[in-house]
Amino acid sequence: MCFLTRPSEAYRDSFLSGAAEFCAEGRTDSTYAEFLGYDQKALERHFGDFVHDLLNLASDDALPRGWQQDQVFWLIGGGQYLGQTSIRPHLSSRYLLTYGGHIGYSIRPSRRRQGYGTRILALALEEARRLGLQRVLITCNSDNLPSKRIIEQNGGRYESAMAMPAHLLRAEGRSANGQVDKLRYWIELVPQPA
Ligand SMILES: CC(C)(COP(=O)(O)OP(=O)(O)OC[C@H]1O[C@@H](n2cnc3c(N)ncnc32)[C@H](O)[C@@H]1OP(=O)(O)O)[C@@H](O)C(=O)NCCC(=O)NCCS
Repeated sequence: MCFLTRPSEAYRDSFLSGAAEFCAEGRTDSTYAEFLGYDQKALERHFGDFVHDLLNLASDDALPRGWQQDQVFWLIGGGQYLGQTSIRPHLSSRYLLTYGGHIGYSIRPSRRRQGYGTRILALALEEARRLGLQRVLITCNSDNLPSKRIIEQNGGRYESAMAMPAHLLRAEGRSANGQVDKLRYWIELVPQPA
């Protein structure tokens, strides 16, 4: 049994160990820590501030100019942090509209291949529906087979593939010479009966 919740100090210890796992595999920004200016030490020392900053990403009023609204949720199972998903309700930048899409997700390395990736997207779709979205764009890299599978299992309909330019490949920590496409899928969200 697992569920999504807003970031909370209640999951401090398991979040910190999960964040260390993401760092160890070179995904320094899966948790948004680097984006918000926290390294692992700063996370440990100022965890409450980090959670506060993460929650503020959901509020247009609190965002610095040019930042996109982002609703972050943590996946919790057995009282432990397992991963996160983020929902961008407005595709208000060219990047989100083309490559980023409405929903991103990641599962901490030690808890992968147990179905949590498939589950986190299913739960994120429920949240997106609650936020009033009627269809969502979800993307993944053409060589990310687990993510492709997750999107398909959740009803994703393939739309197109966009070649990733060198600067985006570099931003994702990949060789700029690689040939990777961003696959674009749409999922229709049927409104729930009142
Ligand atoms: C992609 C990611 C979320 C998958 O999480 P997960 O918890 O392992 O996913 P699941 O256990 O639900 O597996 C989903 C499917 O992929 C398959 N799969 C998972 N890892 C795999 C691997 N390393 N090799 C081959 N298949 C794999 C599973 O067997 C499953 O397929 P099935 O339903 O046909 O059995 C996780 O690897 C991750 O966080 N990666 C880094 C961030 C990322 O890529 N996010 C997605 C961005 S679009």
